[in-house]
Amino acid sequence: MIKIAPSILSADFARLGEETRAIDEAGADYIHIDVMDGHFVPNITIGPAVVRALRPHTRKVLDVHLMIDPVDPYLEAFATAGSDIITVHAEAGYHLDRTLQVIRGLGKKAGLSLNPATPPEAVTYLLDRLDLILVMSVNPGFGGQKFIPAQLDKLRRLRTLIGDRPIELQVDGGVTADNAGTIAAAGARVLVAGNAVFSASSYASAIASLRAAAEAATS
Ligand code: DX5
Ligand code: ZN
Repeated sequence: MIKIAPSILSADFARLGEETRAIDEAGADYIHIDVMDGHFVPNITIGPAVVRALRPHTRKVLDVHLMIDPVDPYLEAFATAGSDIITVHAEAGYHLDRTLQVIRGLGKKAGLSLNPATPPEAVTYLLDRLDLILVMSVNPGFGGQKFIPAQLDKLRRLRTLIGDRPIELQVDGGVTADNAGTIAAAGARVLVAGNAVFSASSYASAIASLRAAAEAATS
């Protein structure tokens, strides 16, 4: 019931295909791909060509987190590259309702991400267009930052707003085996983890520890 989504932002970029296969075999549920534009966030990472290149390396869900503004001109490129979930930021678009419809129209699952300062109520009138809500528990841009505890309250409030809709609640940033239990208890069911997986000597044990800590807190 808990899904673990290792973020390849912390992988060895010179060996991305191999790293993707390694986390797939180590038990990852989703492959989380962080796309940054040097404008919406102060870092630049990868584009649709890299998503397309990674697609043949795994059959697992490619969970593409777009930290780019504008985002609309690039949705089709990320969809045809082989993304399964396309998540956009609430702060990066003026017409989110339309953006989310476009993502579903491309046959992909639609996600909405909230920066730490954005209130949970930002999703209120979009719930019927959403397959996933992503709570940023660090300010996006870099891996290896510290979890912001105030986001636990946001998770709890989102859990109430979601109700019984089939929307996955995901958390991203500073997730470790030490805080995974608290995060899951607050309502998150998909945990993104960059450093906690890729800095470990065994990806499989790191993924298993995150999953065990989160599941122990929800059973
Ligand atoms: C931050 C990214 C995250 C990040 C998570 O902007 O969206 O996915 O890579 O990395 P850790 O788990 O190291 O905080
Ligand atoms: Zn991310």
